[in-house]
Amino acid sequence: MILVNDRFVERTEATVDIEDRGYQFGDGVYEVIRVYGGAPFLLDEHMARLARSLREIRLEPPYGIDELTDKIRRLITLNALGDGIVYLQITRGASPRTHGFPKNAHSVLTAYTQTLDRPLQALQEGIRAHLTEDIRWLRCDIKSLNLLGSVLAKQEALDKGCAEAILHRGKTVTEGSASNVFALIGGVWFTHPANHLILDGITRRSVLRIMQELDMPVKVEAVTVEQLLAAEEIIVTSTTQEIMPVVAVDGRPVGDGSVGPWTRRLQAAFEAAIRETASRSS
Ligand code: PDD
Repeated sequence: MILVNDRFVERTEATVDIEDRGYQFGDGVYEVIRVYGGAPFLLDEHMARLARSLREIRLEPPYGIDELTDKIRRLITLNALGDGIVYLQITRGASPRTHGFPKNAHSVLTAYTQTLDRPLQALQEGIRAHLTEDIRWLRCDIKSLNLLGSVLAKQEALDKGCAEAILHRGKTVTEGSASNVFALIGGVWFTHPANHLILDGITRRSVLRIMQELDMPVKVEAVTVEQLLAAEEIIVTSTTQEIMPVVAVDGRPVGDGSVGPWTRRLQAAFEAAIRETASRSS
């Protein structure tokens, strides 16, 4: 079943209008929520970020965030989802094509679930990353449907045999194509401040809380590409990638090229949070 505005329907029953502004302009916002053992992970934080993204693009959702939160839970139950994700998006609706906001269009909300295993092998072994210039717009804080900059960066990385692209604006490292970046430099974790140049990841925030609990020194400050390349450990964080170790950047090993001890400690704490979430649904 999928959610279309306020109705649960079979996927085959749902259609998208060819003049939907999400389809034509990328005029909308989205969220990806992790589900572990049938329980949504950090759902309220995702919903708060969605509400912010909506405000920032001046888009009125079809109904309130509380009602939407209930419906997302219902969708997970209806589909008997175990480990997976909920994808949800809201667009400015269908209207004859013109750039300005249409007067009579109604926002269109769609959400579906997808089974997705945790990337356990990659979490264990780490991934290779590729550095590339950040060509995206200057409101990366909005989780907008316009993902072409991220799509092109990710594909460039994949073409080079890497699993993630790490983006930089000039000398400054911003974030991953679909993740946030942390680098351990001189025993301090660095990550870009949550401003207009990055998405304030829900996983990023969770990792910052864990770092505080574990008394790991943190500086919410951007690093340069040069500093990144000299880091002892690097991780990228996201809803689907969790705390993913980066063991090489453009063929150069990070540290000794294996997953570092600080990363392992973070992963262990995150694992405990996941188990706690999953146990709530059983
Ligand atoms: N992407 N930065 C960017 C550009 C992202 O696309 C994402 C997530 C993140 C991490 O945010 P979070 O921890 O809230 O997932 C950071 C999602 C997962 C996606 O588009 O698939």
